[in-house]
Amino acid sequence: MKLVHTLKHLRQHLDAYRHPAVVPTMGNLHDGHIALVRQAKPLGDVTVATIFVNRLQFAPHEDFDTYPRTLEADCARLEAAGCDVVFAPLEAELYPQPQTFKVHPPAVLADILEGHFRPGFFVGVCTIVMKLLSCTQARTALFGKKDYQQLMVIRNMVQQFALPVTIVGGETQRADDGLALSSRNGYLSADERQQAVQLSATLRSVAESLRAGATNFEALGAYSMRDLAEKGWKPDYVEVRRQSDLQPPQAGDKLVVLAAARLGTTRLIDNLEV
Ligand code: PAF
Repeated sequence: MKLVHTLKHLRQHLDAYRHPAVVPTMGNLHDGHIALVRQAKPLGDVTVATIFVNRLQFAPHEDFDTYPRTLEADCARLEAAGCDVVFAPLEAELYPQPQTFKVHPPAVLADILEGHFRPGFFVGVCTIVMKLLSCTQARTALFGKKDYQQLMVIRNMVQQFALPVTIVGGETQRADDGLALSSRNGYLSADERQQAVQLSATLRSVAESLRAGATNFEALGAYSMRDLAEKGWKPDYVEVRRQSDLQPPQAGDKLVVLAAARLGTTRLIDNLEV
């Protein structure tokens, strides 16, 4: 496995390949990322992981500075998973000058749910993903379904810009108790880690009500938010949405339940397709 830090070296290493399959990450890899790398292997002639903590998608009060950077351990895991090339650029390599050209996704997709609570987040995500797809010349790129809205925004961006890239979603990987794997789980104290299971349990319970025929989507979300708040969480949202575009659903639509909530100082997100 090659570890490269510059665009020049990345291009040298990828020159011989026609179909890079790329897994963009911010590092601190867990089994969810590794599953994406394994999923990527048969989808291209070279498997590339990118590791870059993207300042542009963090608000000033968020955890950019403390986001765990664990390059050595990440590379060991990627090598064991059969990754061929790791692109881990310094900030000055990807942003040699202020990034004044940015990709602004439409409000209808990107100012709801996560975008409502993290203004500018999807501008940062789209801008860096566009740049990483260009740097790696990806023909396939894989993103986890845990960041459901992110996957949808990226799919739409690639479609509208007619980028020659197939976007593939990877299933959310969960701990035995149901907690969705996330780099931010590492922020949880031992007590919070035990309590964290309540988020996926809430999603499962909403999903069960939906399967049993409930159609009062707003009431289900509001009830779940109250329940989480009584258990000590600070929920941002628990929402039932239409899978295809994350808008409020109509009868017969395929549904997804999405939630974001803060436990102590850690903000967790999760979702469940129904
Ligand atoms: O999901 C992530 O880790 C990041 O948002 C991504 C897609 C790598 C862009 O920085």
